[in-house]
Amino acid sequence: MTDKYQEYKAYLEKTLSKKRFQHSLYVADEALKLARRFGADEEKCYIAGLLHDICKEISYDDQRELMSRSQFEISETELNAQKTYHGIAASVFINEEFGITDPEVLSAIRYHTVAKGGMSLIEKILYMADLISFDRVYKDVDYIRACTYEDIDRGMYEAMKFSVNYSVTHMRTIPKSTLDAYNEYTLIEIKRLADEN
Ligand SMILES: [Fe+2]
Ligand SMILES: [Fe+2]
Repeated sequence: MTDKYQEYKAYLEKTLSKKRFQHSLYVADEALKLARRFGADEEKCYIAGLLHDICKEISYDDQRELMSRSQFEISETELNAQKTYHGIAASVFINEEFGITDPEVLSAIRYHTVAKGGMSLIEKILYMADLISFDRVYKDVDYIRACTYEDIDRGMYEAMKFSVNYSVTHMRTIPKSTLDAYNEYTLIEIKRLADEN
């Protein structure tokens, strides 16, 4: 399936640092593996993985300019957190530049930094693929990878716990959509543990 995406890969290779280009390929591979594991649309997951960080190396001003044409709701908290811009910007960019209109792909990319309540399988797959791709080396990555392949909602719980914890520790604000996701997967995890006992 890879040949079909030469245009996207060539663009990424030309515009991103080597490290981020490699990251994009690894996230696409991981998203494809997760799609196979959980029966999601393989092409959509692969494309979402490939293009999710396409706007991460342009200026915040340029990201903001793209965001101004987004069809998605954008919260005040996100507008005050520049690091969250690139997902929203990318969903606009790939629509305008590559003519990608698939709402699932656009939404997965839009929410890959902040998550949200009621995520679709593709949205969860991209969120987790970005955290557990081959190039990720943080302390608990093997554990989170194992949880994710066992049950993607367990992976999401671990990921949201990490995200909220990180924000609190580093004096960062937390978008409401992130808290919605945290609450949702925490309740699922509480229920899973209760059922286990
Ligand atoms: Fe990203
Ligand atoms: Fe990423």
